[in-house]
Amino acid sequence: MVFLKRAGFYLWLYTDVQNADTVCPAARLLLLVAIGIFALFTLFFTLPSAIPTGPSLSKSIAEHKPSIPKIPKLQEFKDTLSTSLLKPFKPAVHPPLQANSTDGDSSWYSNWNWLRPFSSSVTLDENRSLLPPLKKRTPIYCYYDTTIPREKETKEAESALLLTWRRAWWAQGFKPVILGAGEAMTNPLYDELQRKEVEPKFKTNMMRWLAWENMAGGMLSDYLTLPMGAREEPLLTYLRRGEYPDLTRWEGFGNGLYAGPKSKITDAVTKALRSPAKKDAKDVIDAAPNDAFKIDKSHDGLAYYAPSVIDEEYPKVAEEIRRNRAAGLKSLNLLVNSHLHNTWQDLHPLGISVLKPLPAHTTHMIEPALSLADWLSQCGDTPEPTTCPPNLPKCSPCIASHPMKLSTPARYRNTSGLYHIGTVPHPLTLATLDSLKNDVDVAWVRRTMVRDNWLYELTKEYLGVPLGGRGRILKFKEAVADEYATAHSVWLTAEHETLPHDLDWYFGFSIPINGTDKGTSETPVPGPERRPKKAQSADDGPPPKEDEYKLEPELLKRARDLGKSKVEKDVTVRNAIEAWNLADTEAWKFVRAFLARTRVERLKWEEEESKYAEGAGSDRERKRTAWDRWTERI
Ligand SMILES: *[C@@H]1O[C@H](CO)[C@@H](O)[C@H](O)[C@H]1NC(C)=O
Ligand SMILES: *[C@@H]1O[C@H](CO)[C@@H](O)[C@H](O)[C@H]1NC(C)=O
Ligand SMILES: *[C@@H]1O[C@H](CO)[C@@H](O)[C@H](O)[C@H]1NC(C)=O
Ligand SMILES: *[C@@H]1O[C@H](CO)[C@@H](O)[C@H](O)[C@H]1NC(C)=O
Repeated sequence: MVFLKRAGFYLWLYTDVQNADTVCPAARLLLLVAIGIFALFTLFFTLPSAIPTGPSLSKSIAEHKPSIPKIPKLQEFKDTLSTSLLKPFKPAVHPPLQANSTDGDSSWYSNWNWLRPFSSSVTLDENRSLLPPLKKRTPIYCYYDTTIPREKETKEAESALLLTWRRAWWAQGFKPVILGAGEAMTNPLYDELQRKEVEPKFKTNMMRWLAWENMAGGMLSDYLTLPMGAREEPLLTYLRRGEYPDLTRWEGFGNGLYAGPKSKITDAVTKALRSPAKKDAKDVIDAAPNDAFKIDKSHDGLAYYAPSVIDEEYPKVAEEIRRNRAAGLKSLNLLVNSHLHNTWQDLHPLGISVLKPLPAHTTHMIEPALSLADWLSQCGDTPEPTTCPPNLPKCSPCIASHPMKLSTPARYRNTSGLYHIGTVPHPLTLATLDSLKNDVDVAWVRRTMVRDNWLYELTKEYLGVPLGGRGRILKFKEAVADEYATAHSVWLTAEHETLPHDLDWYFGFSIPINGTDKGTSETPVPGPERRPKKAQSADDGPPPKEDEYKLEPELLKRARDLGKSKVEKDVTVRNAIEAWNLADTEAWKFVRAFLARTRVERLKWEEEESKYAEGAGSDRERKRTAWDRWTERI
């Protein structure tokens, strides 16, 4: 309709101009050509928005109300165009391969149009999952001058703090970048700074600014400024968006955090250098003109551990820093990390729900998830156990005698304040465990297996009983991958024998692993008999029968092997099971790909970053120690 209306309008304009004889012929010709080009341009570039291409397919499912998709970027749009709009005229094509979009067996295609029941309807590949587009991460910069000579101990302690800083901001959806003297020196203003007679303090401060000015604007943070609040916190949401009209600083934060566009940073730096507002200024705040900064009063969601704050609120750590800087910084790192952990715990007052939809025979299967929940519910190691982060004086500090609530309910509930850890089995794994048979065959599948039982049990309460797999899978995908879900749940696959290595980066703090972190050896996952008896929650399913529970480890191993098997008989069974359980299979593939993409995204960034700042703040230490040993043995 819109297309026809517009075309009509241009035709009218065209004849109107052609008939106008007040204009000389040459000018008229020019005008006509201009209108023609303009008409073509607007018609073809605005046309698609008039045709619904979004996930309208899902409208057919009554229960599901699709969220309105954001206006896609041009490239994303073209991708969609080639797969959906042009399909009637062209043979279907595989969507283009995206950079770094495979990991082991899983591969994926990220597209804004991701919320479809079955990925293969777009990717045309059973093995390629359709994932939501990766959110662009706004860079946050931190200046760390590696050229300053430091003792080895101090260097290590500072590197550990930088790691804490990077991890916390990464988990909040930012891209933390450590800048060094190299970035400052490539700034054209650097020479000018060298030639000026200024206070050494001013020079040091100016180097940060020159390094920052060299980038394309964004945020400049102290490594002791950390995001300390919910993902949904308005200030963090605003900062994540990355659009800052003014050069902003926060009241009481000093050099803790700035945000601004490049042009205003350049302006402030140039003025501070060439015509300082104050003689003997010690930093850019003093030297820049008074109106250079917009000062924001509220900084909820941000914690700045400035020296004055440490002196006042954490006297033990302050004392330690005075006595021995390296040891003090180590303590400070523990303190900051435990505050991050505690904040996360406070955000989930209802506890952690380790999902267990078919409780009879999946106790062993969810043990890694349960261990993770156990660690998360503990109190981190800290020099000052009863303290709160500087921005959250009313927090409730973690008390070992009152750990977070853990439960293993069968149903998913989207309740705020509850954290979910899901373990998604491949239908073959589920069939093996559920039947307690290590040789499931096609006949059994056809006669006995309940279709898409896992997803059905999981969402029975949340979505009601009468709903098909297509409707369930859509909601499930939202529960795994939408903005809200990624901050309040983590989903694992049952076949992966180890927990992901980088869970710390998912949560934004170093997860305390009792016993192992301190180098003492303990058997990793304690079986239910060794696990301290927790009070049974009303939600928890029945405990497994002793003799059946004994069979589970062997069966799970068998199912994992079957999943990888290339023997024709096994492949036939696997294919039959996948075909029988389309929704369960889709859920499993989706989670596998989502997890893999999260990993690859971080690795790729880690690879880029490790080249700079002499690798300060990188994750090498931890990888070699506790985590590796832990995750490999599960
Ligand atoms: C999907 O992966 C399986 C196992 O890796 C393989 O056997 C199968 O051929 C793949 N399917 C497609 C369509 O590539
Ligand atoms: C869960 O609830 C939040 C808001 O409380 C909402 O944004 C989110 O989309 C919900 N997720 C699902 C899967 O319904
Ligand atoms: C760690 O384990 C030891 C015993 O193995 C126990 O005494 C201690 O309380 C545990 N620490 C935490 C934080 O749970
Ligand atoms: C990403 O892709 C590039 C080029 O294809 C490759 O060199 C790099 O190793 C990949 N990174 C990861 C983490 O897979």
